[in-house]
Amino acid sequence: MSGLSLTHTCEVRHDPVLRAAFYALTQKVFHFSLERWHDAGFWTHDYVCHSLLDGNSMVANASTTRMALHIEGRTLPATQVGTVATLPEARNRGLARRLMQEIVSEHGREPMFLFANDSVVDFYPQFGFRRGPLETMPVFDVEPRAQRKADADDAGEYWVRAAPTDQRVVRQVEANIVRSRRFGISSPSIAMFHLLSRFSDGVFLSPDGVFVLVGRRTGDRLDVIGLFASEAPDPERLLSRLSLPGVRQLRFHFEPDGLGLASKRADHRLDDSHLFVNDAFPTLSGPWIFPTLAYT
Ligand SMILES: CC(C)(COP(=O)(O)OP(=O)(O)OC[C@H]1O[C@@H](n2cnc3c(N)ncnc32)[C@H](O)[C@@H]1OP(=O)(O)O)[C@@H](O)C(=O)NCCC(=O)NCCS
Repeated sequence: MSGLSLTHTCEVRHDPVLRAAFYALTQKVFHFSLERWHDAGFWTHDYVCHSLLDGNSMVANASTTRMALHIEGRTLPATQVGTVATLPEARNRGLARRLMQEIVSEHGREPMFLFANDSVVDFYPQFGFRRGPLETMPVFDVEPRAQRKADADDAGEYWVRAAPTDQRVVRQVEANIVRSRRFGISSPSIAMFHLLSRFSDGVFLSPDGVFVLVGRRTGDRLDVIGLFASEAPDPERLLSRLSLPGVRQLRFHFEPDGLGLASKRADHRLDDSHLFVNDAFPTLSGPWIFPTLAYT
């Protein structure tokens, strides 16, 4: 790959040949593909690939996802950058730089953010990104009183496992009502990506159909990754639903203030990824957490 004959495109979503080239690039660099997400109908116009091709081969890509930030009562349009990748044999020729500069000139006046792995923490500052404010995780200790009530019932009456593509699930996720006043993100298409992949076995419906829970249990801890509700939840009822037999602690992967659940905060580290933000990203006045279901 010495002399590259580059073409640029932002039309990947609509073109099967370009999509195949994109899947091949992400498979090679990240060992994942967005094919299933696309084929299930959840790749919307919000997710745009900015790509460079050499013939039919995609040599570099950087994607943007348009999202709405809900922060302390305001709603702001914002852009998350992700899937930044150059084929190993095409690196160090300025391809990622070209795509990052294009994206920043297009969206940089609005809040932008991204998650960087350890190998690229020195890459993004050259495009105006800096480390984001520290996140902490909301934690709720289940009181013995709630526990006794929960122990008396069968967990199966609380939640029923559902397929991520179950229409009752999809409807609630797509409505994507953000109830937190503190901080939340509307991005149903990305939430569906996570439901279809990482959390496909952790999707549950309440028997009355009011709640969709994306959760993972580890011993006496329940990680509440996401919770979608078609109506404002009654905090007591919700708490007794979440207080499954043997669960002593709830850990929220989003701000739970909109559910009426007061919580303490625990130190939080998001796997091996680091949040970077641009200068237009709003200043947050209190503790916060970036919702897991909005990562790209
Ligand atoms: C990170 C990556 C996209 C860079 O792609 P690239 O096309 O080789 O980057 P460029 O050639 O445009 O580099 C632009 C500048 O950034 C520098 N740079 C490149 N990779 C870097 C890194 N990992 N850390 C710090 N600086 C880096 C280059 O030296 C160059 O600087 P210069 O212009 O002063 O010489 C590529 O290495 C990659 O695909 N990595 C694996 C996937 C990955 O981890 N992506 C990030 C996901 S968060």
